[in-house]
Amino acid sequence: MKQDFLTGEELGAFELDKLLDRAQELKAGRRDGVGGEKLAGRSIALVFEKPSTRTRISFEVAVAELGGTPIVLRGDELQLSRGESISDTARVLSRYVDAIVIRSGSHEAVSELAASAEVPVVNALTPLHHPCQALADLLTLRERFGDLQGLRLAYVGDGNNVARSLAIAGELAQMEVVVAAPAGYQLEEGHGAKLTDDPRAAVSGADAIYTDVWVSMGDEAEAERRRADLTPFQVDADLLAAAKDSAVVLHCLPAHPGEEITEEVLYGSQSAVWDQAENRLHTQKALLATLLSD
Ligand code: CP
Repeated sequence: MKQDFLTGEELGAFELDKLLDRAQELKAGRRDGVGGEKLAGRSIALVFEKPSTRTRISFEVAVAELGGTPIVLRGDELQLSRGESISDTARVLSRYVDAIVIRSGSHEAVSELAASAEVPVVNALTPLHHPCQALADLLTLRERFGDLQGLRLAYVGDGNNVARSLAIAGELAQMEVVVAAPAGYQLEEGHGAKLTDDPRAAVSGADAIYTDVWVSMGDEAEAERRRADLTPFQVDADLLAAAKDSAVVLHCLPAHPGEEITEEVLYGSQSAVWDQAENRLHTQKALLATLLSD
């Protein structure tokens, strides 16, 4: 039975812990070629209908380092862009490749693809979820703090796909996730996160502060309104000082210094964002190896 990874809810707490263990092993043994045979003889389609730096490159490198063949496809290279159905695309790709990784502007389209595919489908970002990002976020926190259970993470800003995936993964890891967002930008209830419109209350006692861009892909038409509404939620040195002294700062990137985060904080000593970006590679290796294990 194939297993998809569309929201992160597919994982149990035990599986999440095992996956992060595996990612740590792959990271530690990277330069010795550890895992280099896991995808030998396998091909993985990497479909990117939207721009990407980290996700596309880290998945391509991940597949190559696991001994497989990555096939990177832009949306406009497929007959999908000329009206071929999602379900037919899924059926055909399933005859060629061993898994499909897809970034799309429609979560429903990715769910439909997964329903028709005979191979695992991995969500590489939709407007609703970014579960691969959350895996890297948790690995980064585990590296810094040793254990995830009981950590308090304050997500400050737009309650978007990244916030939703963090809430889902954080609940699995028994973390306390608090999302601080203004009215109209708040995450819906039901993912285990506490919700507030007060960034200072959110970061009080926090082990990690997380933020993301205010104008995500697809939000460009409302850019000015978003910047105005979200300005009180900027992660700056004052806000960081209200968290624990040991707190780290996370950002999924790309960042817009001067908007959701100041340059001082992004490049400061408490920033863990570059480890976080690197960890996309290791967690996605672990994910693919797990989904495609015999
Ligand atoms: N964080 C993230 O998904 O980055 P990219 O959009 O560059 O893939």
